[in-house]
Amino acid sequence: MRKILILSLVTISFLSCNQQTTKKIKSSNPIEQKVDSVLNLMTLEEKIGQMNQYNGFWDVTGPVPSAGDAAKKYEHLKRGWVGSMLNVRGVENIRKVQKIAVEDSRLGIPLIIGFDVIHGYETQSPIPLAESASWDLEAIKKSAQMAAKEASAAGINWTFAPMVDISRDARWGRVMEGAGEDPYLGSQIGIARVKGFQGKDLSDPHTIAACAKHFTAYGFAESGKDYNTADIGLSTLYNTILPPFKSAHEAGVKTFMNSFNELNGIPATGDKFLQRDILKGEWNYEGFVVSDWGSIMEMIDHGYAENKNHAAELAANAGSDMDMESYAYVNELASLVKEGKVSEEVITDAARRILKVKFELGLFDDPYKYCNVEREKEVIGSKEIIDAALDMAKKSIVLLKNEDNILPLKKNGQKIALIGALASDKNSPLGNWRIAAKDDSAVSVFEGMKAYVGNELNYAEGATLYAGKTNFPSELVLNTTDKSKFQEAINIAKKADVVVMVLGEVGYQSGEARSRAKLDLPGLQQELLETIFKVNKNIVLVLNNGRPLTITWADENIPAIVEAWQLGSQAGNAIAQVLYGDYNPSGKLPMTFPRSVGQVPIYYNYKNTGRPGPKKEVFWSHYQDESNKPLYPFGYGLSYTSFEYKNLKTKVELGNIKISVDVTNTGILKGKEVVQLYIRDLVASVTRPVRELKGFELVEFNPSETKTVTFELTKDELGFYNNQRKFVVERGEFQIFVGGSSDTTLKNTVEYK
Ligand code: NOJ
Repeated sequence: MRKILILSLVTISFLSCNQQTTKKIKSSNPIEQKVDSVLNLMTLEEKIGQMNQYNGFWDVTGPVPSAGDAAKKYEHLKRGWVGSMLNVRGVENIRKVQKIAVEDSRLGIPLIIGFDVIHGYETQSPIPLAESASWDLEAIKKSAQMAAKEASAAGINWTFAPMVDISRDARWGRVMEGAGEDPYLGSQIGIARVKGFQGKDLSDPHTIAACAKHFTAYGFAESGKDYNTADIGLSTLYNTILPPFKSAHEAGVKTFMNSFNELNGIPATGDKFLQRDILKGEWNYEGFVVSDWGSIMEMIDHGYAENKNHAAELAANAGSDMDMESYAYVNELASLVKEGKVSEEVITDAARRILKVKFELGLFDDPYKYCNVEREKEVIGSKEIIDAALDMAKKSIVLLKNEDNILPLKKNGQKIALIGALASDKNSPLGNWRIAAKDDSAVSVFEGMKAYVGNELNYAEGATLYAGKTNFPSELVLNTTDKSKFQEAINIAKKADVVVMVLGEVGYQSGEARSRAKLDLPGLQQELLETIFKVNKNIVLVLNNGRPLTITWADENIPAIVEAWQLGSQAGNAIAQVLYGDYNPSGKLPMTFPRSVGQVPIYYNYKNTGRPGPKKEVFWSHYQDESNKPLYPFGYGLSYTSFEYKNLKTKVELGNIKISVDVTNTGILKGKEVVQLYIRDLVASVTRPVRELKGFELVEFNPSETKTVTFELTKDELGFYNNQRKFVVERGEFQIFVGGSSDTTLKNTVEYK
């Protein structure tokens, strides 16, 4: 069998070629020695082949490649000119492509199989922004672990996740895929996800390689328009954008993906400063960097590369190791090396990085280790994975408002009217980036609520959301005119004790290329809400959405609002359990909710300015027609119980700041609270934000229970990067804030000497 041939080739070459290795750094690491021995057998074209990634022949997650490509790709696989494939699904199909690479190519080097396992493979967990609202790092890690388990059972060994892009702009559709606006929270969540996907041992067949993306500043797209230009200074780059990437690297993430956008005039894919100087230089990163889909070729449209040949030269020299679907490396790199425009060392280094991950995954030991049909059947959709998705979904829900304790609903004797197209939608809860999920496979809110049989439940759609197709990747056409279903909703609302309205965005309204200029309830939903409110004010608004929305009218008028995002396969069950009080919500917002789109970008860790106000005269930093305040701040979220913070104590000891606070559950229900710690460095050589999250703890309390929660701030949390890219810790006064949200007022001031 070919596999045996590979193994013996590796061993023989290891023994004979080890002395002549081209690698400069001597290593006693056996994997690196094996990589060297394989590299020594490879022609230039075969090394370039490792740098070439092709999309499979069916799922497409980017612009569709031209016809006839399948035959070419097949031929290239046989020649050993393909190092990786993405979007090949299922054990049977993956085995087929792997077999060509392993059995038909000269050296039989196995493929690494990538896939966007963003919040699950077939079983969907909540969208990443929703999971982030749990602030529950263990649960998030477990969710990634379950996703890896299911995906690896389906033959996948590499996910393009986590997306660790920080974003302050809810117009950007991809906020659904990240951890929100804060670099500290984003870093912690990024680490949890990397550890969840990769586990302790990458060669364990239930784990997969992770990918920190998109390197970088993709979330700072101007106007929140996807793929748009980012223009930012070093302070924002180093203190806000890079920290989650650095943390992912320190957590051992095996791969990075660069990004579509340009940053300060240079497309990230061709940016040497980012990839060579920072990532592979300052950070000494040893994994590989994959381009984003076609992003090498897109440097032509950016006005940075003259043609495909030039694009390949720029990208390879800048440190993009693998070309996703640009066909630039496979077509151009060999001639570029011959012309001396790209050195063979660059190619060898890229191939080395890619081969190393393949060895770490154990693909050289058994290229088919992820290709077990029995395991695939057993694991996909198994109870363990579904239970974990339900658990994560409940933890992701944020209670935004609950006037007069309208929630939880009673379990008996209430007449409930359930209204909204999203209430019976079994597809939208899956969110975007659910490529391997079965359409319409989520539990809808209607189904979840039907399980509670003590009440009378009536359902009406109210308004159709979309006029046209809502499948991927169609443009969405909203229904803005057809109100024919309003009356039925009015009728059931009139007779109800409580009206539950499920409103928001369909699953594909956020995600890649799904930017919005408006952040309201799309289509006729706002009008429907106001119409129903006229006949019954007892409304519980359940939001399904992939981004913060400007629900300012609802906040002023509707007594209860539940942020239920897109919660995945088990959405309806999770929402019903929260509505009926079988689960006490504890989620907190990972992103600020604006009052109006004009406030965007809006974020809690803003700078004070020289005119913070408020002042009597007009000359301060504000709007004439809108408050400076958000609708809901970062870190905000209620519970069915309530918490009180007291006795904040701070002291400086051995160069660290020690903090303690007493938190009491003042209600009659058991509940969890995310205790948050913020700092403000009052005077610094580079101005610091008015607040910065530097710690948090998710704590469970019995009714009336008080717990003392402690934190310790070290230099790592107190310092920052200055404009010389140097991490500095400066003495002086720091304000320390503790509370259940970023707008907490409980504070102490400490002198840090
Ligand atoms: C483009 C997206 O930007 C990236 O995040 C994704 O992983 C690739 N397409 C592959 O689907």
